[in-house]
This record gives sequence, structure tokens and C-alpha cells, in this order.
Amino acid sequence: MTAKKVILTGDRPTGPLHLGHYVGSLRNRVKLQHDYTQFVIIADVQALTDNFANPEKVRESVTEVTLDYLACGIDPAISTIFIQSHVPELTELTTYYMNLVSVARVERNPTVKDEIQQRGFQRDIPLGFFCYPVSQVADISAFRAHLVPVGEDQLPMIELTNDIVGRFNRTYNCNVLIECEAMVSTIGRLPGTDGGAKMGKSLGNVINLGESADTLKTKVMSMFTDPNHLRVEDPGTVEGNPVFTYLDAFAPDTAAVQEMKDHYRRGGLGDVKVKRYLLDVLETMLAPIRAKRAAYAADRGEVMNVLRQGTARARAVAAETLDAVRKAMRLDYFSKE
Ligand code: TRP
Repeated sequence: MTAKKVILTGDRPTGPLHLGHYVGSLRNRVKLQHDYTQFVIIADVQALTDNFANPEKVRESVTEVTLDYLACGIDPAISTIFIQSHVPELTELTTYYMNLVSVARVERNPTVKDEIQQRGFQRDIPLGFFCYPVSQVADISAFRAHLVPVGEDQLPMIELTNDIVGRFNRTYNCNVLIECEAMVSTIGRLPGTDGGAKMGKSLGNVINLGESADTLKTKVMSMFTDPNHLRVEDPGTVEGNPVFTYLDAFAPDTAAVQEMKDHYRRGGLGDVKVKRYLLDVLETMLAPIRAKRAAYAADRGEVMNVLRQGTARARAVAAETLDAVRKAMRLDYFSKE
């Protein structure tokens, strides 16, 4: 029997998860969990780097994200869901890795650059926030992950991971850490319901996985479409039209979608009809998720059990890597051999 390869993936708990998370990686994780040993990190320490003054929000989001995972079909019997702050081995690894990476290298990360700009940070940037990519390298490498299913915005983190892993192994002349590969969904990035490239709760343009049927309807029926498609008989544009992007991402009947696209381009197909179709697709997909989420939400004790057991399992694995790391770094003062 060959050991299964390892997946490490996860999210920052800053609110419930939405359809962007679902296409970006959640859907992949649900599929891949059968063929890999999967660890799913709820990165509360990372969330705190820019929410340190708002711990209650992070705490509540840990439960929300867990509910979303369970509702989507991440099965705690085969996947390990755990809380970052309760695996202190990750913090220690982060400290050691900080010596193996320069400020310039971290600054070059385009995702971090974007985030710094969005938050308007200058020299006042919290050091914890600036360094969170290094802690993410610890998350991934502690589990000796081969594969990291993430949204494309996380690709620079994978690159940084492999840089630090290589640097560690060369510096300490060992092969304790292993390189990893990203897995990005083929769908690409989902736009917001307003057509904007960035999705965010604060932008009010996301559809949550646990969305009620009523809110889902309101959100779909008010989605942005082709602004030049004024009358039903006008020819419309499909490219960059979020309603069609969502259909591409979620509708199982691709032939029907193709037909609608052709009809829309020719003219004669109204936006309301397309939106009703999309609503139907999303309601079919989300109804069972909503029901499962509600069932788990009514049993918080069980949710906490999942997290407690998952965190204990994750900690044992991270502790093994940390042991090997300390040995490689000649920090194994008290070990017997
Ligand atoms: N940075 C990820 C996010 O923004 C969360 C995360 C933390 C993560 N550690 C990770 C993702 C390790 C993949 C692997 O949601």
C-alpha cells in the first residue's frame, strides 16, 4: 500500500463562505478528499493579522466557515478540519522561516501588494499582517502537503512556499520539507453579482453558500448583465456578462447554456429568463447545502467536536515535522539519539 498524498488547504475566517470560494477550491476539496489525505485549515491567526481588534468576528467566523465546510460535503471522517491558533507548532515554524526570506521577497508578492493597497497601509502596516505569507508557508509545509487547492490569488503563496522549502533544505542540507503544487479550478475567478472583478462581503456582491431562498432570489434577479441589452429583441453580449459566467460555473446542462448563449447573442432572449434559469440552477445546488448547514447549526456541540478532534490530529502531524525541522537546525538539544 502506498501512502496517500497530502492536501493542505483552507480559508481565513472573516465571514461565511460564498460561491467564489466554492468554485475557487471548495468544490475541488470535496472531490479530492477521497483520494488524498486532506487537512483543511481554518486560519484564525491569519484572520487576526488585520482583524486583531475584532476577535469576536474571527471567533464567530470559525464556526460559520466550519458549517460551510460540513454543509458542502467536506467529510470529517476522511478530512481533517482544524483551527490554526491551536496548532502552536505552526507559529514556531513561522519564526524559523523568517530567517530564510527577505523583506524584498515578501514585498514582491502581488497578492500581498494588492491587500496592502486595499487597506491603505504604509509604514504603519502591522508586522503580523506583512508576515502572514510566511505563516502560510508554515501551514503548508508542516503537513508536507503535495497539493494545495486554492483560488488563483493564492498562487504567489505557493511560489513562496517552494522558495522557502528549497532554501531550508539547502541551508540545513536535508530533505525534511517538500515542495508543493497549487491546484486552481478550471473555471477561473467568479465575478461579483455586480459584475465587478472583486468579490467581497463589504461590497455586497456575493452569494453565500448558506443564503436563504429569498435572498438568493433577490440577489440573482438583480444581477448585473449586459448594460446595452435594453430590449429583449436586441442582440446581447455573453462575454463578461456575469449571469452567463455563473451559468458556465454552475449549470450542469452545458448544451442548454450554449443554446441560451446563441439565442442571447442573436437577440430575442430576455435577461429575466436567463436569470430565472440561473436561479433554478443555484437553488437546486444550494438547497441541500442550506438544509445540511441548518442541521449542523442546530448541533453546535457536534461542530465543536469535529474541530477538537481535527485539531488534535493536525497537531500530531505538525509536531512530527517540527521535530525533524529542529533536528535539521541542530536544535535537538534534549533528544536521546
Ligand atoms: N490565505 C488563505 C485565504 O486568504 C487562507 C490560508 C491560510 C491558506 N493558510 C493556508 C490557504 C494554507 C491554503 C493553504 O483564505
